[in-house]
Amino acid sequence: MFTINENYQKLPGSYLFSTIAKKVNDYSAKNPEKKIIRLGIGDVTQPLVPAILEALHKAVDEMGNAKTFHGYAPDLGYDFLRNAIVEHDYRIRGCDITADEIFVSDGAKSDSANIQEIFGSNNRIAVCDPVYPVYVDSNVMAGRTGTYDAGTERWSDVIYMPCTMENDFVPELPKERPDMIYLCLPNNPTGTTITKPQLQAWVDYANQVGAVIIYDAAYEAYISEENVPHSIYECEGAKTCAIELKSFSKNAGFTGVRLGYTVVPKELKCGDVSLNGMWARRHGTKFNGAPYIQQRAGEAVYSAEGRAQLKEQIGYYMRNAAAIKKGLQEAGYTVFGGVNAPYIWLKTPGKMTSWEFFDDLLERANVVGTPGSGFGPSGEGYFRLTAFGSHENTIAALKRIQSL
Ligand code: MLT
Repeated sequence: MFTINENYQKLPGSYLFSTIAKKVNDYSAKNPEKKIIRLGIGDVTQPLVPAILEALHKAVDEMGNAKTFHGYAPDLGYDFLRNAIVEHDYRIRGCDITADEIFVSDGAKSDSANIQEIFGSNNRIAVCDPVYPVYVDSNVMAGRTGTYDAGTERWSDVIYMPCTMENDFVPELPKERPDMIYLCLPNNPTGTTITKPQLQAWVDYANQVGAVIIYDAAYEAYISEENVPHSIYECEGAKTCAIELKSFSKNAGFTGVRLGYTVVPKELKCGDVSLNGMWARRHGTKFNGAPYIQQRAGEAVYSAEGRAQLKEQIGYYMRNAAAIKKGLQEAGYTVFGGVNAPYIWLKTPGKMTSWEFFDDLLERANVVGTPGSGFGPSGEGYFRLTAFGSHENTIAALKRIQSL
């Protein structure tokens, strides 16, 4: 008789965004006449920009001709894309990252879930609280998190680093010693971020205690302030302690196209063992490479036209963020984020819990957001709105919230 991975049985409830989708679908089925505005999951709404569309069309045509057809992609990514990444995401920022340290994938969600596989099952993870649920859930599945306490909503073996308004949403160095530290900056869900000296302190700490930082930089393109690092490799010493995850979903609208990459520096070692070699081995065995068509689209992200067009698109979303932030503040809400990230993080009014506010907003304003407590216990009493809606829907949602 086969057995199952019992760790899956430990997972409480369903995945956050599946739970929300079900609640919204149920409400919609009962109230078909209501026009619901979705500012919940961070899914983009604006079409692919012309430079990317052109690259996609061209690549599709190439696939229809035997002379230019492409079969399996190289499992670590095509050189044309890896070289463009090195040049535009690293070299121009003074980061010494080479193409053989870049691993192209089908997106940062899968990489952020899969990366834990190359680490020992006894490693202790440290996460911000609130946190993107994938980091914790993937470690639950791997049996690394101990037991779940439904009362505290915490796992016995996870080190939590609360990020609340009391500490300006800046995680403090943990008192217990972690082996793997997950940082997402600019942060999902709080929409806040940290300065370069603050990130340098994390890098120094990780090197000192022998921990690895899994650095999720999916929202890097939304940074608008000086002195906020775009990559962890801007910090001295990061190549011996950090893996960086990047996505094309939010900077180029690829949530439905699927493309991302992970940087594993060759200097990152456990004893004599290179993590770069391990991740290459894992990629080679379990992944057949992101499709040629997507990788050509990814290359277009870095062309002069692509960069100019995407700057406009990011500006569009950030105008939404600014409008939500200002509008909510005028309505008396306490609001965070929205300056270096496309997420607005607000205090729920009065003593409402995050889920009470979710239900209230859905029922009375027909607006969907994400309850802060879904990201972890320290998210209780907060709520997330995304700036990824259309401008019209964003303004309409704001008016509805203001008139509650
Ligand atoms: C979010 O809403 O937190 C994100 O869209 C989730 C993701 O990128 O997978």
